Amino acid sequence: MRTYNGCTQERELLVLGGNGFVGSHVCREALDRGLSVASLSRSGRSSLHDPWASNVTWHKGNLLSPESLKDALDGVTSVISCVGGFGSNSYMYKINGTANINAIRAASEQGVKRFVYVSAADFGVRAAETELLTKFPYGGVILRPGFIYGTRSVGSVKLPLGVIGSPLEMRYSQLFQHTRPLNQLPLVGPLFTPPVNVTAVANVAVRAATDPVFPPGIVDVYGIQRYNQKSNTARVSNQYRISEREKMNHNQNQNQNQQSSEGSRHDDDAALTEFLASLMDYTPTIPDELVEHYLAKSGFQCPDVRLIRLVAVATQKFVSEVATDALQQCKARQASVVKDKRDKQQKDKRLILTMEDLSRALREYGVNVKHQEYFADSPSTGLDPASREE
Ligand SMILES: NC(=O)c1ccc[n+]([C@@H]2O[C@H](COP(=O)([O-])OP(=O)(O)OC[C@H]3O[C@@H](n4cnc5c(N)ncnc54)[C@H](OP(=O)(O)O)[C@@H]3O)[C@@H](O)[C@H]2O)c1
Repeated sequence: MRTYNGCTQERELLVLGGNGFVGSHVCREALDRGLSVASLSRSGRSSLHDPWASNVTWHKGNLLSPESLKDALDGVTSVISCVGGFGSNSYMYKINGTANINAIRAASEQGVKRFVYVSAADFGVRAAETELLTKFPYGGVILRPGFIYGTRSVGSVKLPLGVIGSPLEMRYSQLFQHTRPLNQLPLVGPLFTPPVNVTAVANVAVRAATDPVFPPGIVDVYGIQRYNQKSNTARVSNQYRISEREKMNHNQNQNQNQQSSEGSRHDDDAALTEFLASLMDYTPTIPDELVEHYLAKSGFQCPDVRLIRLVAVATQKFVSEVATDALQQCKARQASVVKDKRDKQQKDKRLILTMEDLSRALREYGVNVKHQEYFADSPSTGLDPASREE
C-alpha cells in the first residue's frame, strides 16, 4: 500500500498496455482516484517521462506468453486492458484477439473480480469480447469507442491529436487507403460514431473497473459519454455539497445573532441546496434520457443531471396535478348527469375519464386541447347536435 497526492492507495489495478495512448490516461485517472496502479506491456515503462509515471509499478511481459502475466496479476482485484495492435490482419487478430483472450483467462484463473476491455472496431476483438463476457459474467465490461482523441505522450513530447487524429484510425486508413474504398472497410462503423475524448474513456474505464455496481456488458460511445457526464456531474455536485455544507456551518456560527428574516433566507438557500443535491440520488419516473431528448429537440443542451431531473420532477408534478383536476372534472360531470337522469344512472357509479375532462383540466393551465367530435370516447358522439353542450 502506497500513497499518492496524500491519498492512501488500497485497491490493486493492473492496466495492460499502460504505456500506450489510452493506457497512460487510464493510469493517471486511477492514480488520481487513489488507487494502487501497475501496468504490463512488452516494453514496460517505455518512453513516459511524466512525474505520475513513477507512481506506477511497471512490469515487462507479453500477453502472447501468458505465463509472463502471472507475477503482475498477484494481488490484483481489477484489470483494464488497453492492448491493441496494428499490422497485417493475422497480426491484428493475434494482438486484439489471442493476446486479450490470454489475459482474460489468466485474470479469471487468478480470481480477479472485474475486467474492463477497451475494444475496437474489429480484427479479432469480438472473440475477446465473447471470452470476457463468458469468464466475467458479473464483472466484465467492454468499452467500444470509435475515434479517441486527446494528447499522446511520446517521450517528453506531447502530441495533441485532433478529432480525426486518433493514431489507430490513422494507421488503419494508411494501411488501406490504396486498396479498397473506405465504405467497404471495417472501420466504417467508427467513422459514423462521434469521437470521444481519451479522458472520458479513461474515466469510465476506471469507474467500470472499481465500481461493484457498474453493470456488466457492452458500453458504446454514447454510453461512455453518458457515464462520463454523470460522474463529472457527481464530482462537481459532491464538491458543491461539501462546500455548501461548510458554508452553512460557518454561517450558522457567524450569524447566530442576526435578524430572523436573514435566518429564514439562509434556510431557503440551504433547503434549495439540499433539494438539488438530493436529485443526484433520486430516480424520477420520467427517465433522464427522455427529458434530455425533448430538451435537445427544443435546442436546450444541459450537461447538469440535476437540472435534467428538476425538469423531470416538475413535469411529473404537472402531469399528476392535471390528472387530479381531470378526475375532479369527471366527478362533477357524472354527478350532474346523475341528477338529470337519476333513476337510470344511479346504479352505475364507475368514473369514466374522458378527453372532455382532460381538456377542461388542461384549459386551467392555458393548454387548449380540442377533441374531435368523431372520437368514440366523446360523450357527445352520436347525440343530436341540438343537445350538445358546446
Ligand atoms: N486510439 C484510438 O483512437 C482507439 C479507438 C478505438 C479503440 N481503441 C482501442 O483502445 C486500445 C488502446 O489503443 P491505443 O491507441 O492506446 O493503442 P497504443 O497506443 O498502440 O497502445 C497499445 C498498448 O498495448 C501494448 N501491447 C501491444 N501488444 C502487446 C502484447 N503482446 N503484450 C503486452 N502489451 C502489448 C503496447 O505496449 P508495448 O508496445 O510496450 O507492448 C501499448 O502499451 C486498443 O485495444 C484499441 O483497439 C483505440
